[in-house]
Amino acid sequence: KSRVKVFDTDVLVLGSGIAGLYTAIKASEQFQVTVLTKKTIAESNTEHAQGGIAVAIDEADSPTLHFEDTLLAGAGLCNPFSVRILVEEGPVCVEELIGMGAQFDYHNGELALTREGAHSQRRILHALGDATGWEVERALVAKVKASPNVTTLEERFVVDLLENGQGHILGALVLNSETGELEGHLANSVVLATGGLGQVYCFTTNPSVATGDGMAAAWRAGADLMDMEFVQFHPTALLIPDAPRFLISEAVRGEGAHLVNSAGIRFMEDVPGKELAPRDIVARAIWQEMNHGPVYLDFRPIGQKRILERFPTIHRTCLDYGMDVLTMPLPVAPAAHYMMGGIATNSYGETSLSHLYAAGECACNGVHGANRLASNSLLDGLVFGARIADKIKCKSPGRRPSWEDVRSPEGSQSLTETGFNELKPLDAQNLRTRVQELMWNKVGILRNETGLREAAESLMGWDRQVLPTRSVEGLETANILTVGAVIAKAALDRKESRGGHFRSDYPSRFDESWQKHSLQHKEDNNV
Ligand code: SIN
Repeated sequence: KSRVKVFDTDVLVLGSGIAGLYTAIKASEQFQVTVLTKKTIAESNTEHAQGGIAVAIDEADSPTLHFEDTLLAGAGLCNPFSVRILVEEGPVCVEELIGMGAQFDYHNGELALTREGAHSQRRILHALGDATGWEVERALVAKVKASPNVTTLEERFVVDLLENGQGHILGALVLNSETGELEGHLANSVVLATGGLGQVYCFTTNPSVATGDGMAAAWRAGADLMDMEFVQFHPTALLIPDAPRFLISEAVRGEGAHLVNSAGIRFMEDVPGKELAPRDIVARAIWQEMNHGPVYLDFRPIGQKRILERFPTIHRTCLDYGMDVLTMPLPVAPAAHYMMGGIATNSYGETSLSHLYAAGECACNGVHGANRLASNSLLDGLVFGARIADKIKCKSPGRRPSWEDVRSPEGSQSLTETGFNELKPLDAQNLRTRVQELMWNKVGILRNETGLREAAESLMGWDRQVLPTRSVEGLETANILTVGAVIAKAALDRKESRGGHFRSDYPSRFDESWQKHSLQHKEDNNV
């Protein structure tokens, strides 16, 4: 233990996307807060969000309409209590975000609102046209940096959560990837806001940091995960060989772009909602159409002036790849985008482990059900991040834990006492690629018993062979493997199709016997 440098604080926040930073800002009104982030502070899924923040502020809109749309998209699996909180507390949080300096786009002196799939109203706030996440992150980072009560430390990778032997979380064991040293960060309250896991799949809209680290650490510590079979595949990512699947915002369809096949036919025309049907439906329709040839998103019905005004980032990025959306249809395909499941929490972000909270994409409070409504994720991070801060403020802080209180989980013990075993970077990369391809092929948009069983067995077999490692790449690969195995097993167990989880061997939707959430716990995760 002596090899570990120890720090303490009142509230430890892991992750620096919208949920982490907003929770930190709210908690810092009363406490000392430390935010740890695995790369630089601005790097997160939030920064890449294009579409915006859904919030019922228009005169024609209401929280009730937003509630109904969210429930409908969630395919019978949303927790209505949490959704009610989301839509009713959302407007206040957004107002506060604006007060913190986030600058959204205006139209005729009013906040501009766009439409996205499965929304009955125009209710999506956006910034800089299509760089909403970048602007939100900019404002929150500035606010955090100006706060004397918040310390931010970059290049800190969470190896494991630390606990007292009785399920009480005391902090995190962290690898300082600049120095290679281990650090113990202890706190009265620990908030996981580590984001998503798109990198579990070989094709994803997510940045390279989205490797499910918080979900994997919570899992190893014994926290319950929930609804892990529900992965959202975004219908439209740029499809160019050897290029990353750059997100083409749903707002592009919201502004009038058409999906067409190689014959130029609008194949969504007869589907209710057309191009703006719920995401899972559009993604599967594109996937099926791709059996016959490429699929394109045709921006031209929007008009050149409006394209340049609303989608400057998309226009510029596509030009870099030699595609001018002003004049030609863009080849697109679905890609892994968002995890509806995550660390099970109640409506105050409390997990099944005491003193451990979770917010944002790594958490599952039931607001997204089986399929998240577009642009509800940034709102989720704000609303439930604020509620965690409220909860922490109501509790008596007690004394800060000390290193003597720590009984490390098995994994951490071996890391701190006997040092790391080395998983060579090459092995890590090789294993990561195998996991990502297996997940895409067998646990992807269309699933069946044979493929899921094969994937779950392989992933669990590989899991046992992975050794702890000191490289961030190796630790990330181990996390990808862990969460991939949990997703595969949860998907194998759910013998129905609902939202983002589609079983070609159980294609009928809404099997009544499955109107319930699934819970995953590490003791039960066997095929
Ligand atoms: C998009 O702009 O299409 C992504 C927004 C979201 O995932 O909610």
